[in-house]
Amino acid sequence: MNKQHLMTSMAIKEDEEQSLRPEKLNQYIGQDDIKDMLSIYIQAAKKRHEPLDHMLLYGPPGLGKTTLAQVTANELDVKIKVTSGPTIEKSGDLAALLSSLEPGDVLFIDEIHRLPRFVEEVLYAAMEDFVLDIVIGRDGESRSIRIDLPPFTLIGATTRFGDLSAPLRDRFGVVFRLNYYSNKDLQTICKRTSAVYGNPIDEDAVMSLARRSRGTPRIVNRLFRRVRDFADIMNEGHITETITNEALLKLGIDAHGLDQTDYRYLEAIIDRYQGGPAGLDAIATQIAEEVTTVEDVYEPFLLQEGYIKRTPRGRVATKKAYDILGKPYYEGFLKT
Ligand code: ADE
Repeated sequence: MNKQHLMTSMAIKEDEEQSLRPEKLNQYIGQDDIKDMLSIYIQAAKKRHEPLDHMLLYGPPGLGKTTLAQVTANELDVKIKVTSGPTIEKSGDLAALLSSLEPGDVLFIDEIHRLPRFVEEVLYAAMEDFVLDIVIGRDGESRSIRIDLPPFTLIGATTRFGDLSAPLRDRFGVVFRLNYYSNKDLQTICKRTSAVYGNPIDEDAVMSLARRSRGTPRIVNRLFRRVRDFADIMNEGHITETITNEALLKLGIDAHGLDQTDYRYLEAIIDRYQGGPAGLDAIATQIAEEVTTVEDVYEPFLLQEGYIKRTPRGRVATKKAYDILGKPYYEGFLKT
C-alpha cells in the first residue's frame, strides 16, 4: 500500500471510529449515575454562563472517557482541544494550548498521570486562577511573567487514579470513576454499531459478542469489526451467531471473553507459582508483557470476574481460575 492509500484508509478508520461515538449525552449508553450528575452540572454551568468545573475521569481503558469528554463539550456548545500527558513535554507546549482556547472551551488531557511534573506545576495556577506563570530568561536574569487565560474547563482522564499527585487531584471539582458496562448496555452498543455500519446482526450474535467483551465498549466494537469482515465475505454482511462464534474462535477469544494472554496469566500463577501469591513483576516477566499493561488491561477484568484475588503478598488464583483451566483445585489453596 502506498503512503497516499495508507493515509486515506487511516482517515476512513478515524471517521468510522468517530461515527461510532455518541455526540450527545442522551445517545451515550451506560454509566447512568455519571450521566445524571453530569447533566445537572452542565445545565448549571450553562445557566450561570460559567465554564464547567474541571473534571477528572478515571477507570480502566476503553470505557469511553474520551467520548464522555467530547460529549460534554458538545453539550456545553464549546470547542474541545484533545491532547495527552506524554505529548506535553515542555511547559511551553501547555502554554500554547491554553492560550489558544476561547472562553468556556474544554482542554482534554488523556493519560494525565503522565504529565511531566514541572508541566503539572504550571497547570495548578492555570486551573485555579486561569493564569499562566511563565519564567523567562535563566539563572540570575530570570523573571516570572503572568498571562491571563480565558476561563476554561480541564477534563483529565487516567487509568491510574493512584498515580496522580494529590495537588493535581485536589484541583478537580468533579471526579467520576467509570465502571465496566453491563451486558445489556454492551448489547445496546452492539446494536447501535450494527446500525452505523449497516450490517444486520441476529439477537443471539449480539448476546455472544456482548458476553465476550469484558464489559468494555471498545472491545465490543473491535470484535464487531472482525466478525463483520467474516460476514461480509461469507454471508453478504449479515452477522449470525455461527459466523460470530467461528470468527471469535479464530481470534482466540473464548466464551467468557478471555483471550490467550488471560490464559497465560492464569497459567503463570497456577503452574509456576502453585496458585500464588505471585508478584505482579514476576507474572509480567513470565508472560512477556509490560507490567503496566498487565495491571491496567488484564488484571482489572480478571479481578472483577473473580479469577484472581489481590493479597498483600501478591496475586492468587481462585477456584474459578482452576476450573476454567480444567485443573483440580483443593480447599486451602487460596493462600493469603
Ligand atoms: N460507543 C462506544 N461507547 C459508547 C457508549 N458508551 N454509548 C454509545 N455508544 C458508544
